[in-house]
Amino acid sequence: MNIAIVGTGYVGLVSGTCFAEMGVNVTCVDVNEEKIKNLLNGKIPIYEPELDEMVLRNHREGRLNFTTDLTSCLDNVEIVFSAVGTPPDEDGSADLKYVLEVAKTIGQNMNKYLVVVTKSTVPVGTARRVRAVIQEELDKRGVHIEFDVASNPEFLKEGAAIKDFMSPDRVVVGVESEKAQELMSKLYRPFLLNNFRVIFTDIPSAEMIKYAANSMLATRISFMNDIANLCELVGADVNMVRKGIGSDSRIGNKFLYPGCGYGGSCFPKDVKALIKTAEKNGYSMKVLKAVEEVNENQKSILFYKLNNYYGGALQGKTIALWGLAFKPETDDMREATALVTIDLLLKAGCKVRVYDPVAMDECHRRIGNAVEYAADMYDTVLNADALLLLTEWKQFRLPSWGVVMKAMNKPLVIDGRNIYDAQEMKNLGVEYYCIGK
Ligand SMILES: NC(=O)c1ccc[n+]([C@@H]2O[C@H](COP(=O)([O-])OP(=O)(O)OC[C@H]3O[C@@H](n4cnc5c(N)ncnc54)[C@H](O)[C@@H]3O)[C@@H](O)[C@H]2O)c1
Repeated sequence: MNIAIVGTGYVGLVSGTCFAEMGVNVTCVDVNEEKIKNLLNGKIPIYEPELDEMVLRNHREGRLNFTTDLTSCLDNVEIVFSAVGTPPDEDGSADLKYVLEVAKTIGQNMNKYLVVVTKSTVPVGTARRVRAVIQEELDKRGVHIEFDVASNPEFLKEGAAIKDFMSPDRVVVGVESEKAQELMSKLYRPFLLNNFRVIFTDIPSAEMIKYAANSMLATRISFMNDIANLCELVGADVNMVRKGIGSDSRIGNKFLYPGCGYGGSCFPKDVKALIKTAEKNGYSMKVLKAVEEVNENQKSILFYKLNNYYGGALQGKTIALWGLAFKPETDDMREATALVTIDLLLKAGCKVRVYDPVAMDECHRRIGNAVEYAADMYDTVLNADALLLLTEWKQFRLPSWGVVMKAMNKPLVIDGRNIYDAQEMKNLGVEYYCIGK
């Protein structure tokens, strides 16, 4: 089977590589010439566990190719996926300019039947717009070519993207013809040989499923953050509360971890976009608006705990940060809590020293030398007046506290992900604060 994937970012590169791993011939297309040149030279543009080796092997074996020219492969493929970015517009809606650009190029250059699948996260109605753009271009050319559009939202998690794609909980595909359904079944069958978990739906429902799923997960996080903040006020321990409610099978134990806010390329923008879609349809998503507000506040919580501790006298303090990426196992810092925290610390006159196992270059690209970049996690805490834990990377979970405390000015730890044991920290002589306790 031959397919093309347009947009070679987190989703496009992972999807393309995993399809190639199953024997599909995949052409990954991107407008970013440097990205494609690097990929052709074996340089992988993102950090994602297991991805490097799989890209290199499938490229070497001829199943995975890279180009900047979408038109060069359109005659040889049956399915074209669009996995380009859909960043938030100024008003929070999803900006569809890249998705529609791809549709236009396809309409201008296709010469045979294609299924055009949107994998990007897009509002309900986008597939219809993609169809209209392609048809308009075909009409301009005066040709009649049959094609289908489909919606196949992606649920992979950065940091576990390969695993998620290779063994998905389910695959959602919105289709409007049997032919498209057959082709999509054929493509996904190898991933789900023993239990074919493809859910075929109509296209608007598939588009909505992705937003509803991310919004539900974001809601659980914000709800638990609200509960955690109340626990602090009333003397309860959110960890115990979490276990108590998570063992109820109606609730389940996933996504009940309080912390210093969610970030990343998906939850913040998808929650915003769904609120906007509702507004455009004359409806107000009241729950989601609250979810967003709680999260915005939560991103500042570590700063406010620190500021309270020092009674507002943060000027000149050296603050160490462990973790920059929005979550472990990725270098992605889009909407990361670290960016909000760093900004508040700098404005308060602190000197900020940071360390992250993989996101140091990304941080430098975003904020340059506004902070000091440590050589390793222990170097970060040298003469520090506090250590803030923002990302729960494994290497931060069991540090040598003796070394840390010797290096710090003050043994003060504020844990934004609740990974340390409060009693153990007390025994070590660390002043320890976390979320919801
Ligand atoms: N990152 C995730 O974890 C994740 C998970 C599920 C869904 N999504 C969704 O998938 C989509 C892509 O996300 P991402 O994180 O991979 O984005 P990304 O920014 O990492 O990658 C997008 C790529 O598309 C390229 N591009 C833009 N316009 C193009 C065009 N006209 N032709 C060819 N290439 C073009 C860009 O150069 C970029 O490399 C978004 O809608 C996102 O919401 C992302």
